[in-house]
Order: sequence, then structure tokens, then C-alpha cells
Amino acid sequence: MFGLANRRDNNLRMLERARGSQNTPPGWNRVIVLANRAPLRHEYAADGAVVVKRSAGGLVTALEPLIETYSGTWVAHAAGDADSLVVDDRGGMSVPPANPQYRVRYVSLPEAEHRGYYYGFANEGLWPLCHAVDVMPTFRRIDFQMYQAANARFATAVAGEAGGGSPLVLVQDYHFALAPRMLRQRLPSSTVVAFWHIPWPRAGTFRTCPWARELLDGLLGSNIVGFQTDDDCRNFLGCVEALLDAEVDLLQNTITYRGQSTAVRAYPVGIDCSNEAVRALPSFAACRERVCRDLGLPPGVRLGVGIDRMDYTKGINEKFLAVERLLKLKPEFREHFVFVQVAEPSRDCLPSYRAARTQILETSERVNRRFGTSSYRPIRLLESHHEPADVYRYYRCADLCYVGSLHDGMNLVAKEFVSARDDERGVLVLSQFAGAAQQLRAALVVNPSRVDQSAAALAEALDMSVAEQSIRMRLLRANVAKFDASWWAQQMVQDAMVDTHRRHSTSSQGFVPEAISA
Ligand code: G6P
Repeated sequence: MFGLANRRDNNLRMLERARGSQNTPPGWNRVIVLANRAPLRHEYAADGAVVVKRSAGGLVTALEPLIETYSGTWVAHAAGDADSLVVDDRGGMSVPPANPQYRVRYVSLPEAEHRGYYYGFANEGLWPLCHAVDVMPTFRRIDFQMYQAANARFATAVAGEAGGGSPLVLVQDYHFALAPRMLRQRLPSSTVVAFWHIPWPRAGTFRTCPWARELLDGLLGSNIVGFQTDDDCRNFLGCVEALLDAEVDLLQNTITYRGQSTAVRAYPVGIDCSNEAVRALPSFAACRERVCRDLGLPPGVRLGVGIDRMDYTKGINEKFLAVERLLKLKPEFREHFVFVQVAEPSRDCLPSYRAARTQILETSERVNRRFGTSSYRPIRLLESHHEPADVYRYYRCADLCYVGSLHDGMNLVAKEFVSARDDERGVLVLSQFAGAAQQLRAALVVNPSRVDQSAAALAEALDMSVAEQSIRMRLLRANVAKFDASWWAQQMVQDAMVDTHRRHSTSSQGFVPEAISA
């Protein structure tokens, strides 16, 4: 997983040499993040007042400290119905308004464009294509046209924010495969790093997308393309070899295409281990007491938790089948073990999501009928948005957390659970198909589709001695703390600095650094 560490160390040494004693800034006039989700959205409450909601996702926790450090700009979709009300005449706002640290630039999309770009091409096409679970991708020409239009609209907004300078642009995820090439054309001296948060499929799968070449061409407008794992990097390089007339260097992991070089690197994303939810965590006993009260559970209940969006890639149905098998094979857990599954509503206008939900509901009801009593329901399915404080309360007091993704780029729930357990208790049961399994080897790693195996892992977790829980949790916590969100962001920025320096120093004009402007 971290086979690239040596190269990074070399990069850093090179960077230090390049900067010498002059403490030269890296040569970017601005740092800009492009992501579909904004860190904040503004919505109208029932009484007409505007309320601010923070995005809870890992992407925001990972990138916000970086954008604050450089007083940068975050360009994102205006998803809140009151976003347009709070913006200045350039479509953005300073965050936080009272003590500005960075700028958010909201981009509004016409309804049809948003539907085609976000629901259509990104979530009915690319999402199932890259996860390769049972749902067939749907590719419609009109969706791809909307995806092109939206990528162009966002790229124009980024170029506007850059003010014609040479920014570092960090392009996030599968919503923006085409934007790097567009940025390269609009901002020729920019440094573009694209990070793909979800898995990248093999060439045989990827080429089924009618616009596979266009997507690769778009991403190769970047100086660096980042993925979660080395496997994803290999798959991407394989796709480029198979589909484009490009020079692929499998030793250096670089691609030369259309006269430009792109490095392909793994940057496994991490979390902020001392985030607000962790810092404010009440004691184990207080969390237990509140969870049992909220759900009407007896105090001594053995508790398993799962925290996911309601998504067919998360293996929620398979988790319920494992709970059923556990209760069948180990009757001693009946009436004593409860599995709480938070499933936050997500993309629920799409048929594939509705079908997955129907199946999940049917399974939970069946298991509850089979093993439930008048006072006991083994599965609690909570289909609502949970704020970080609520999620961390579950993490804190659970006997086990089961992450059962059928395929997942990283899965930050696994890391969040670990970060909440400074008591060194609790067991992580983790799918081998989540990127996190390559780092979190002290978890009980399972194939979620093998129901017997996962049921056995649940039993092992519930029977695990305190000493073993502690050893495993200590190892997990050390890994999550070391490879945290700032480590992730730093790796990308450092590699980008080296790349920028190299390009400028080989160009005829030499390296002309500009001050980072706030
Ligand atoms: C995936 C993506 C993230 C995204 C998340 C939530 O994990 O990789 O970038 O934030 O899904 O999806 P949504 O469609 O609600 O933004």
C-alpha cells in the first residue's frame, strides 16, 4: 500500500533542495478545490429563516484544513435552496463570515443539467461502472452532454476564481472527469491534481462506457491523478494503455499523452482524528445510556452498528443476512444482540436505489419477524440523517461496527469508528472490498457476500477478550492517526509542488514564483 513512500521522501528532499534557503513559495497564486459538495449549504427553515448546514462527509474534513491554510477557494454546486441568497456579486462568500478563512464559490446549474450530470451520468453511469456490483450502469447521451456542460460550467468558475494566474486546483471525484482537460486549456500554467475517491475499474469493465476515451482524456489534463489504492492506480494505467495512444511507464507510474506528462499516485484518504465530534464525545457510559434510552434497549444489550448512506454498494442487505445467520447458529445471542443500522437517505429518486431499499426493508422485517419477540427486534434500521454527534455516540458505545461494502474506494466509517474508541474497546468487522481493509489489517476482515463467514466474524467479535480487543484497537488507532486527513492532503500538495517546480525549471522562462494571495 505504501510502496510509494520512498518516492515521496525523495520528492520532499528534492523540494527542499529546490527551495534552498530562499523559502520560495510553490509558485501558485491560489489554491482552489473543485468538488460537487460544498462544505456549507443554506436552506430555508419552516419559518422562512435561512439555516446553515455543514456537509458531514469525509471530503470536507479532509480538505477544509488545507483550504484554510492557503486562504483558498472551494468551488461547488449550489445545492442549498438559499445559497443564492447569501452570495456576493461574484457568486461566493467568505467562510466563516465573522472570521473569514477561505472562500466558497457556489455554482448554480439549470435543473436539467443537474439531473443529467449528477443523477444521470455520475450516479447512474459512473457510480455503478466503478463499483461493479450487481447494478448495470445506464449511459444516456443526453446525460453525458449535461455532464460535459456542467464540467465546463464549473471549470469556467474555477478559471474566474483563479483570476488568470497559476493556481493549484484540486479536482475531486467522479463528478469531474472532464474538468482537468478544460482547466488545462483555460489555465495553461495551473497545476491540476484530480483525486478519484471511488474505485477505478479494470479496462474490460471501463471500456463498456461509450465515452471511456473522453473520460481518460479529460483526467489526463491533470498533472497528477490520485486514487485510494495501488490497485486503482494499476487499473487506471491499464485503461490508458488499452484505450489511448499514450506512453505508459509502469515503473514510474506516469503517462505521457498529448505532449504532457501525468503522474498516477495512490493517496489513501484519512480522517481528522481530533474532529469536533471526537473532542466532544461523552463517556462510554453516557453514550450507552443515551442510545439505550433513545432506542428502548436494555442496558446490557450487545450492540452492533453500521453507518452508511442507503446505497446498494454498502452491503446493508448482506449485513442483515449475516445477523440472521448469527442468530440462527448462535441462539445465545437471541434477545441479547441488536444491530443498529443507520442508512441515510441518498439519491433516492433513482430506481436502483429504491430497489435496494425495498430489498433491505424486506430483509430487516423478515429477520425481525423470525427472531423478534414482543419486546425484542434484532435489527433497528434508522433511515434518517444523523449529525456527527449522533453517529459518534453509536461508535463510542458499540461492541462492534460492521462495514460491509461490496466495493468501496476507502470507507471512512471504518476509520471514524476507530477514532472514537480511545477506550481501546470494540471490534471492527470490515469488508475486504473496502479500500480501508488494505490499511486496517487488525480488523476482522470478511467477504460480506459469504454470509457464514461474516456471521462467524460477528460471533468472534462479540466473544473477543478485552485484551485482544485492546491490541487490535491500538494497532488500528495508530494507523488511522498516522495516515490522517492532513497526511493525505499534504502528500498531494507536496507531490504537486515538486511537479510544479519541475515544469517551471525545465521551461524556457524558468520558475517564476508568485505569492499565494489570500
Ligand atoms: C461518495 C463520493 C463522495 C460523496 C459521497 C456522498 O462517497 O465518493 O464524494 O461525497 O458519495 O454522495 P453525494 O452524492 O450525496 O454527494
